[in-house]
Parts: sequence; structure tokens; C-alpha cells
Amino acid sequence: MQSITIRRPDDWHLHLRDGAMLVGVIGDTSRNFARAIIMPNLVPPVVTTADAKAYRARIIEALPSGDRFEPLMTLYLTEHTSADDVEEGKKSGLITAVKLYPAGATTNSHSGVRDMEKAMPVLERMAKIGLPLCVHGEVTTPEVDIFDREAVFIETVLDPLRERLPELKVTMEHVTTADGIDYIKSSKANLAGSITTHHLIINRNAILVGGVRPHYYCLPVAKRETHRLALRVAAVSGDKRFFLGTDSAPHIDPLKECACGCAGIYSSINTMSCLAHVFEQEGALDKLEAFVSLNGPAWYGLSPNEERVTLVKRDVPVSYPTKIETGAGTVTVFDPMFPLHWDVERS
Ligand code: NCD
Ligand code: ZN
Repeated sequence: MQSITIRRPDDWHLHLRDGAMLVGVIGDTSRNFARAIIMPNLVPPVVTTADAKAYRARIIEALPSGDRFEPLMTLYLTEHTSADDVEEGKKSGLITAVKLYPAGATTNSHSGVRDMEKAMPVLERMAKIGLPLCVHGEVTTPEVDIFDREAVFIETVLDPLRERLPELKVTMEHVTTADGIDYIKSSKANLAGSITTHHLIINRNAILVGGVRPHYYCLPVAKRETHRLALRVAAVSGDKRFFLGTDSAPHIDPLKECACGCAGIYSSINTMSCLAHVFEQEGALDKLEAFVSLNGPAWYGLSPNEERVTLVKRDVPVSYPTKIETGAGTVTVFDPMFPLHWDVERS
């Protein structure tokens, strides 16, 4: 029997939502991950340190008893965010990063930034105090094709911002293109990228071939195969600038399976099995620990987890539910379209 023991992983980009949905999904994360960067795109968004403190308390309250899990809180950057509040949040140890959503880029992003100039005072302060900026790297200009939005964001927003504020640490979240990978690799410092599980597994055909499949629709949308292959090369390379951010983003089925379905893929429950499969396929199981447990903490200036987990390859595929029931409704689980033989051994 094949097995691999690694430090307990972390998830550097996660949507936990709130209320009944939070209660319904948090166990899938706390079972598998020690820490996660918690996205602030609630309705209304988490914009102040006080909002983040209250949200963190709700997350802790929702944890299954006995689970040890550290939510790493983020603030949603708006054109009105106060630099002093952000600094206070970092000083108190509560805030790990600030999140930039270009207005309208994705789910619940209408309070995002329209005019980068308005966000400059906060970004300058963040550069000064060493607080990372997490970016949803897509432009929202209607003229730009949805498949080109990441590349255009790099050229027209991200690169100019980094030229202007080279000391700002930027995490390009959920990189989906070879352009994103190349841009990160070409940078000398202060730039890293997270990669989701699903973007390592699906390309855009999954959404569109043989019928519209809403459970493979997320933002940034999956791209063509060449991009998926570039993501895989980066993820398994061991390069410290790339790490896991699942972007697991639960929506109830009626909001996905309708005329204008929400973006988001729910993968917290089977992500580790999917990743072990991908890394094995790439002949790189020895690099899995770097991707899920080492590179992320190093980038965020945290220690890797001391605890270990063992992944075991079973002869009979591991069965995961195709849907989970939450108090908010039914959520469909990411289907990688291949059997999962890698199991996370429970102690
Ligand atoms: C996320 C969500 O549902 O909150 N959706 C998604 O497709 N990833 C938002 C986001 O991270 O873009
Ligand atoms: Zn996300």
C-alpha cells in the first residue's frame, strides 16, 4: 500500500460564508486543514477590523467540537477603507491580508474597487507595514473577453501597481492562465500565487461540452487546456511562489442550476484526495507537501504546522458524497470525473 505523510495542510483561499451555510461547510475544512485564509465577500462584506473580529468569532463558534482550526481573517478593500483600521487589524494579529476585488468581478463584489487611485493610501500603508494584498486578478471591463480578463488585469492593473509600490506583497489568487504563472515566475520579489484544486483538473470543456454544467462554473472561469497544463507544472514544481488556495465556494444548488447561475465550486471535502491524485499523475508526490503545507506559510510569514497527516492510496476508490446537506440547502461537491483512491487517514 502506498502512503505519504506530510505536515498538516492549510488552505490559502476559502469561502466559508455565514449562518447556516458556515455551520454546514466548516467541518469539511477543519477536518482537512489547520488554517485557512477566509474570504471577506459576505453580504454585507467584511470591511473593518471590527467586522472581521465578529466574523472570526462566528467561525470559531461554528467549529465542530474538538476540531482545531485557525481562521486567518482578511478585510475586503473598498474605496473607503481606513488605513488606520487596517494597520490596527494587523497589529492586533487579527488580520492576515486585505483582499482586492475589482468591482463586479465575481460573487458579491459590487463594493469592490472601481478607481485604484482611491485605494492608494491603504495600499501604501500596507506596503509600509508588510501586510499582503490578495487580488482577484480579473478586469471587469465589458469589452474584455472573459477568457482574457486575467492577462489584461496583469498588464493594466497589477503590473502598474507593483511598479508603483514594489514593496507591497501581492498574492495573485486562483491563477488560471499560463500568463499568470509566467508573470509570477518573472517577478523578483513580493509576488506569489495560489492555485485551486479544480483548475488543476478541469479546463473549459468541462463547463461547455455536451451541455452546460453549472457545477464546473467558477471565477476566474477555467481556461483552455494549455493553461491547465501550465498550472500543473507550476503546482508540482516545488517553486515556493505557488501554493494551494482551494477557492472552495459553496452555493446552494438552486442558485447554480438556473438561468443565471452563481460562480463557485465546492471542493473542501475531497480536495486532498484530488490533489494527491494530480501529484501522483505528475510523478511529483514528493512535492505535494511544499504545495499544500510549506510554501503558503512561508509566504505569509507563518510557521508550517507541526502536526502530520497521512494520505493512503486504497485499492477501492474512496467514496465522497456527491452533495452535502446544509441548513441553508443542498450543495454539490466538485466531481473530478475520475475515481479517487487517495484517502486522508484519520487518527
Ligand atoms: C467565489 C464566491 O462564490 O464567493 N466564486 C468563485 O467562483 N470563485 C468568489 C470568487 O472567489 O471569485
Ligand atoms: Zn474565491
